[in-house]
Amino acid sequence: AREAKLDLIKKHIKVFPDFPSKGVLFRDICPLLKDPLALTAVTDLLEEHVRLTHPEVDLIVGLDARGFLFGPLLAQRLGVGFVVIRKKGKLPGPTVSVSYTLEYGQAEVEVQEDAVYPGQKVLLIDDLLATGGTLYAACELMKKKQADLLGCMVVIELKDLRGFERVKPISVFSLVQY
Ligand code: PRP
Ligand code: ADE
Repeated sequence: AREAKLDLIKKHIKVFPDFPSKGVLFRDICPLLKDPLALTAVTDLLEEHVRLTHPEVDLIVGLDARGFLFGPLLAQRLGVGFVVIRKKGKLPGPTVSVSYTLEYGQAEVEVQEDAVYPGQKVLLIDDLLATGGTLYAACELMKKKQADLLGCMVVIELKDLRGFERVKPISVFSLVQY
C-alpha cells in the first residue's frame, strides 16, 4: 500500500527545466494538489511517519508558502495545532525572525512570538528540501523560541543539493527523492 501511494504521488509531480531561472529543475506540486487521491496519499504517509516516530508531537509548524498546503491537513489528522512561519513583514504583533539564502535568492522568515512556547514539541513541514536554507532558518527560529524540535518533513527532497547536511543534526524525513 505504501509503494502504491508513493507511485501515485510521484506520478503527480511535474518537472519544469529552467524555472524560475536557468539551471533550476523545478518540481511542481500543483498536479498533486489537484488530485484528491494523490493528496490523501501524501497526508496518509506523513501521518504514518509521525505516528510511528514522533507520537508525542504538540504542533505542526509550516513554511511559507507551500508548507501551508500540507501542514494543516497533517495537523488535523493528528489532532494538533498548526503554526505558520512566514516571509518577513506578513505577521502582525511581536515576531522573531531569521534571514537565509535560497537556491534562487535571499529572504527572511518570522514567527509570532507567542506561537510556540518553550519546550513544545514541534515538527517542521515544507513541500520541498533543496539547499536546506529555508528549513535551516526555520530550525534557527524554533531554537530562538526554545521549542523542542523533533524533526523536519518534506514531500520532495532534491538529494544532489545535500540540504540535509545544512539542517543537521535535525533530521529530515522525505516522501519522494530526486
Ligand atoms: C521553495 C520551497 C521551499 C524552499 C526550498 O520555496 O517551497 O520552501 O524553496 O529551498 P531551499 O531548501 O534551498 O531553501 P520558495 O522560497 O520558492 O517560496 P514559495 O514557497 O513562496 O514559493
Ligand atoms: N524550491 C527550491 N528549489 C526548488 C525546485 N527545484 N523545485 C521546486 N521548488 C523549489
